[in-house]
Parts: sequence; structure tokens; C-alpha cells
Amino acid sequence: MSLSVIILAAGQGTRMKSALPKVLHPIAGRPLLSHVVATARCLEPERIVVVHGHGGELLRERLSGLPVQWAEQREQLGTAHAVMQALPLLPPDGSVLVLYGDVPLIRPATLEGLLEAHATGGFALLTVTLPDPTGYGRILRDAAGSISRIVEQKDASESERAIREVNTGVMAVECARLREWLPRIGTGNSQGEFYLTDLVGLAVAAGFSVTGVAVADPAEVAGVNNRLELARAERAFQKAAAESLLLSGTTLADPARFDLRGELVAGRDVFIDVDVVIEGQVRLGDGVRVGPFCLLRDCELGAGTEVLAHSTLDGVQAGVHCRIGPHARVRPGTVLGDGVHIGNFVEVKQSIIGPESKVNHLSYVGDTHMGSGCNIGAGTITCNYDGAAKHRTVIGNDVFVGSDVQLIAPVQVGDGATIAAGTTVAEDAPAGELTVGRVRQQVVRGWRRPQKSPSGNGGNDP
Ligand code: UD1
Ligand code: MG
Repeated sequence: MSLSVIILAAGQGTRMKSALPKVLHPIAGRPLLSHVVATARCLEPERIVVVHGHGGELLRERLSGLPVQWAEQREQLGTAHAVMQALPLLPPDGSVLVLYGDVPLIRPATLEGLLEAHATGGFALLTVTLPDPTGYGRILRDAAGSISRIVEQKDASESERAIREVNTGVMAVECARLREWLPRIGTGNSQGEFYLTDLVGLAVAAGFSVTGVAVADPAEVAGVNNRLELARAERAFQKAAAESLLLSGTTLADPARFDLRGELVAGRDVFIDVDVVIEGQVRLGDGVRVGPFCLLRDCELGAGTEVLAHSTLDGVQAGVHCRIGPHARVRPGTVLGDGVHIGNFVEVKQSIIGPESKVNHLSYVGDTHMGSGCNIGAGTITCNYDGAAKHRTVIGNDVFVGSDVQLIAPVQVGDGATIAAGTTVAEDAPAGELTVGRVRQQVVRGWRRPQKSPSGNGGNDP
């Protein structure tokens, strides 16, 4: 049977107190709505329709890559009215699953369970039992225990309010029934809204049974209405991500101090110290160790590579047994061969560094192609930018560069060349030779330092 998913996202989200529409606020680095769409896609639906309110332009623009259709709800007249806006985009029959753009943590397995219940029982509803059900629609059941109605908090009697089983809002229903029942929903309630929850009463009146599927963990169906709830959802997401990594064999020094904002594929015996942030697509080979306070974005690190504390790696491909950091910044377009060392306060950008080469201290290497086995001394700078364009530095194999060298690109250093400390290399340095470019040292014999005047206050006189 064909499945359509409707995601309601037209609510204003005023409690976020933000210029950004609520569903664009991120969890794990991705908008709330993207999470829901990703979950929906796991069910392989025929279509996903997102119902948005004003601010829809921004939504469509920011999420233009999502495989969804958009329906606008101009005025927020209630959840039933919102679903109504999606109806023209739905087929005459098949199933419809209703999800919410601000309920981001729901799991595909839970929805599969709901769809199964729908397939057998017609109308299925996800419910949850909360210690404090305040604000939610309560699930009313008849003497036989079947769901008979949902009553909203504001319309509920004292005894109804005592019910702790509540409506999550997530439901599965046949498209044809939706078309039949939605127009019958009115606004005769205390909020004067079209309540989607009224479908339950209509289904029961039409002789359908309504199956409740209970969710065990309330965090899974928690909505995000303010930034406190956003932060809680973030923590819940991160906790689950960390636990799943631990169970798949990755060591996290502290699962509460690890943030995944993308995808991490880790080999065996990977160790990740505290306060590490992973963004984009990161692949870590067997035995990789990541020190504390590191950011890894879109990286691939070979087996045995070690990243030491306080390093930022962005768009880096590293071979096996490299050592990077502490305090290294390695930027996009960098490819490090096996056994490369990048040390403290070294910045590397858009460069290829050959196997076993070492840049250990206080250097900038940009737009460079470096061969293997090189040793780059402390404070070496590739001067790659002339104010208008970037230029390349090409360094051969087995090159030794002394400390405090500037390589003014475009420039080449031949295989086996040695560059003396303090040299400014403005012309190509030949292979196998020593290149020195510095002012000869002088000794001024008998020179005396200026002395402060003995009067005590004369020291500042011009
Ligand atoms: C709704 C349910 C309630 C349930 C609760 C779970 C109804 C009438 N009530 O209540 O039973 O316990 O969710 O959180 O459905 N939305 C629109 N357009 C609208 C109104 C809402 O798109 O005109 C969207 C909102 O963006 C939000 C969702 O629908 O994502 C729920 O709306 P909200 O106003 O939060 O409904 P509740 O009153 O919380
Ligand atoms: Mg709500």
C-alpha cells in the first residue's frame, strides 16, 4: 500500500523567541525538520508533504535539498486545518502518517510499529504515559479499554485531566478516511481550533477501532517549543549517539562530553577523549586516538593516527600513523601521507605533505606540495598570497628547512635541498644544495648599551 507522510510545521514557534522559524533550529547541527524528514524517508514513503506557515520562503530556501513537497497553511487554525492543506497533494487512497516538524527524535522503528498497527486495525495512534501530562491531549478509553476519544487539556474535566496517557499527535490513517472525516471537524472547542484529535471520535462513531501504540521513552516523542526543550532534545540525541558508538566498539572517555553533528565511521579500538566535536562525514581507522578538545570535520584518518589536544581538522585526509597536534589547525584540501607529523601551532591548508615529513612547530604551510621525508623547521612560512592571488610552493623529497624560513611562492625547492635557518627563499632552491639567504652576522666590539641617567627621574626625558 502506498504511504504518504505529512509533516506539520506551520506553528509559529513564538516561545523560541527567535527570528528563525522553529523547525530550522538545529539539533546535532541539522535543522529539526531535517531530522524528521530523514526519519520519514526510512519508511520509504511515496511522498512527504511539509505544511509550513509564514517564514515558508526561508524554509524552502534553507531546505531546498530535501525531497519533499510543500503546502502552505496561511493561518494557523489548528492541526486538522494544517493536515487539510496537504490533502490536495495526496493520492485518493493509500496510508497517511502524520508527523511533526518539532518532534525530532522519533525513531523509524517506532513508526514501523505504528504502521503495522494501522495495517491491521485501520486507525493507529502513538500514545505515551507521562508523569506530568499537563498541556497534552488525554487518551480516553471505554470500558473494554479501546480508545474512544481524545480530549485536549483546555477542554478536559478534572477527572480527565488525571489521565496520564496522552496523545503524541503522531497517527496513521487511510487517506480516503482522512478525506471523509477532516471536513466534518469543527471548531466547537475552548480554543476555537480545528482539532486533528477529533478524528478519533469520528473514527469510533463510524465503527472503526482506534489502536493505541505506546511509546516507552517519552524523550522520543518530546516536542521542542523553547530553547530549553531544544537543549534537552540535543542532549537526548547526543546521549543516544554516544551510547550507540560505545556499543559498536568505540571508546569515549566520557559519553556526556562528546558531540556528533554528522556521521562517524570508526574502526576497531578508536579512542576519543573528552569534549570532541565531530562534524560532517568523519572516518577513523583502527586504533585512531583523538585527544581532548578537538574538532574533526569531514576527515578521514588512517589507522594508528593520533590527534592531540586542542586540534582542529577540517577537510583532511591523513594516512596511517600520523601525529597531529596538540594545537594544530589543518584546513580543507590537506592530504597527509603516512607517518606525517604536524605539531603545535602549525596551520596547514590545501597542501599535500608526503610520507614521513614533519612540520613540528609554529609554521604555516599553504598551497604546498611537499615530498616525503622532509623536515620543516620551526616558524617556517609559505608566503602563498601576494594580496591578489594564491601561489604554490613545491618542495621535493628529503628537504631540510631550517627555522624561521619564508618561502615566497611561487617557488620550488629541489630534492635533498637544505635551506639555512632565517633564509627568505624568493627564488628556486636547487636540489642537493645548501641555500642560505641572510645578512652576515657582525660583531660591534666595545659597543655599550645606553644607560639611564643617575638622577632617577631623567629616564623618561626625550
Ligand atoms: C497537539 C494535540 C495534543 C497532543 C499534542 C502533542 C491537537 C488538537 N492536539 O496539541 O492532543 O497531546 O499536540 O504535542 O492536535 N500546527 C500547525 N498548524 C496549526 C497548528 C499546529 O502546523 O494550525 C503544528 C505545530 O507546528 C506543531 C503541531 O502542529 O508542530 C502541534 O501543534 P500545537 O499547537 O503544539 O498543538 P498542541 O496544542 O500542543
Ligand atoms: Mg505543542
